[in-house]
Amino acid sequence: MPRPTDPTSTRHMCCRSAGYTTAARPSKPRHTWPHPPAGRWRIPCITPSSGPPRRRPPRWTSRSAPTCPTGARPWRSSSIPATSARSFTRSWPCRSSNRWQAARHRWWRRHPSSCRRRPSRVSGTTPYHDGPEGHMRRREFFKVGAGGVGAAAVLGGVGSGSDAAAEPWTAARGVPSSAGSGGLFASGVVSGLHSSTEVVLWTRVARSDGTAPTSADWAVATDPRMHRIVARGTTTVNPAVDNTVKILVGRLRPGSTYFFQFRADGHYSPVGRTRTVPSGTGPQRLRLGFCSCQHWEAGYYTAHRSLAEEDIDAVVHLGDYIYESGGSGGIRLDTVGSASTLEDYRAKYRMYRSDAALQAVHANHPFLPVWDDHEFRDNYSKSSLAADPARAAAAYQAWFEYMPVMPVDGTTRVYRSIRWGTLAEIFVLDSRQYRDYEVESLANFGDPGIEMTREGRTLLGEAQRNWLLTGLEAAERDNICWKVVGNPVMIHPARAIDLDEPSIRALLPELPDHAGIYINSDQWDGFQWERDLLLAHLHSEGIDNVVFLTGDIHSFWQATLSVDYDDETSPRVANEFVGGSITSHALDILDPGLAEFIQRLIAIFRPPFNFVDLVRKGYGLIEMTPDRAVVDFKVVDTQTFEAAASTAARFTVANGSTDVLTELF
Ligand SMILES: [Fe+2]
Repeated sequence: MPRPTDPTSTRHMCCRSAGYTTAARPSKPRHTWPHPPAGRWRIPCITPSSGPPRRRPPRWTSRSAPTCPTGARPWRSSSIPATSARSFTRSWPCRSSNRWQAARHRWWRRHPSSCRRRPSRVSGTTPYHDGPEGHMRRREFFKVGAGGVGAAAVLGGVGSGSDAAAEPWTAARGVPSSAGSGGLFASGVVSGLHSSTEVVLWTRVARSDGTAPTSADWAVATDPRMHRIVARGTTTVNPAVDNTVKILVGRLRPGSTYFFQFRADGHYSPVGRTRTVPSGTGPQRLRLGFCSCQHWEAGYYTAHRSLAEEDIDAVVHLGDYIYESGGSGGIRLDTVGSASTLEDYRAKYRMYRSDAALQAVHANHPFLPVWDDHEFRDNYSKSSLAADPARAAAAYQAWFEYMPVMPVDGTTRVYRSIRWGTLAEIFVLDSRQYRDYEVESLANFGDPGIEMTREGRTLLGEAQRNWLLTGLEAAERDNICWKVVGNPVMIHPARAIDLDEPSIRALLPELPDHAGIYINSDQWDGFQWERDLLLAHLHSEGIDNVVFLTGDIHSFWQATLSVDYDDETSPRVANEFVGGSITSHALDILDPGLAEFIQRLIAIFRPPFNFVDLVRKGYGLIEMTPDRAVVDFKVVDTQTFEAAASTAARFTVANGSTDVLTELF
């Protein structure tokens, strides 16, 4: 597909034209100390120390490796033992005849503590897998690195001021960095889940007066103190993309945890933690957080602070990352107001990213984000995009600038999937830019030709629908255990009055299938033909273990989906978990008694829900193993700055079943 270059087009915004680095793939890591030229000789690398000056070993003075004068054991690369350089140099048989080498060995034996194993090539890095060691290191990071941005700042430092990529990466030994408000990295650091060998790194580099350095360095390491660096480089800071920096780092090891950091003008960003996706068979566990709807004015990000401390692999963000509206009042002041221009949308992202709790969750976990409607405007469809293309282009450009996502195919496509070994495949859907126009919920009554049931009416668009159907089918064929669908809007019917009853149909035979009064046609209820098609496909193709993770509606819901929800004998094919909102309001703004009354009314909805909470805020967690999937709904007070999350409900679904075991706390 050709790469268009118009940055203002909503459909043509490739990463290159947006000023991003797309293929930052260093061939090998750089050492942090002068070392011998690359060659057949392997000398232990010596790292600098903050202690008293140590004697240094004899310097390497020749570009060519010395040869053994006896010729007794010629050096061949194939003869290099698969051990460290340290063990090899000790076994070198001719060192007594090589004065330089012997001197170096004598020095090295006298100063063993100064020797460090040289940083590995990316391909040879010790993997940072899950398991006892991985968990220990993850907890270590929470403790020292990212219990919040403030904690992460302890790792930061001020360097010498040089921006040369070869400069030692000394952040761990420095003074606090410029994290938090007012520094070069006031928007924190962000990473995106991408593939088994790649991650997306993000930051914004700008001074308080709006100016920015022309370039920034980045580094990826296997430890939170950034000692074992496996990849690093330098990238341009481009004002055309609001000084945001986005790096796609490759050649990493599958299923591994990494740490990353940026540096510019001698200042270091907080250290972030990210990970690559496992490949091959396994792994045995996947834990995801899922959340949505973080209206700035509605509350504090206490949910994000708790989510940051969860032991999870990634966060699926289901949209409404920002709210384009403003000035509605609330516990926090929205200083931007209503957004309509590119600068407005950028200011929204900057304001949201200034929150320490949001920075903490980004620093601790890679994100797999997708948008919903408020990243542009409320309840929009493809008709809205066509009606206001300049504003749509601004909203989409700002999203791509600030989200750790590389555009797919150089377009504004954001729906995509990621396989987690053979344990799961995560699909994230775009429910906005391809959907048909909205219809009123109460319209689905009495007229067989009404719009909500019209054949061909689409939420996903034809291309995305075909991609999803074939992707689910392929996952089942490839024995992927769990199929997780990140689904911005609710797919289970929310029908307040069921008119598809035999007694009513006898009187009104022209009623459409699934006739009734639905409460929200903005979700899948407004696109019933396509929902029926999707659910029937799951049954006809034998696709099991499908889980929908949903946002949008600012409340917690759980229900099981069947092929025909008006037929109680219809096969059940999936489960849906709607994970509340980070802050956005639902019935929490009503009198508690009235909210309780409305919530009780939902018990008469047909088909029924298993769990509903329209008041509390929070997020969801899902843990998948080969045996089962367990979903927790975590709730937290968003009106108190210091509040911790607790578990409201837990749902367990066994492999091969759609039955749900529900526990309430
Ligand atoms: Fe929302």
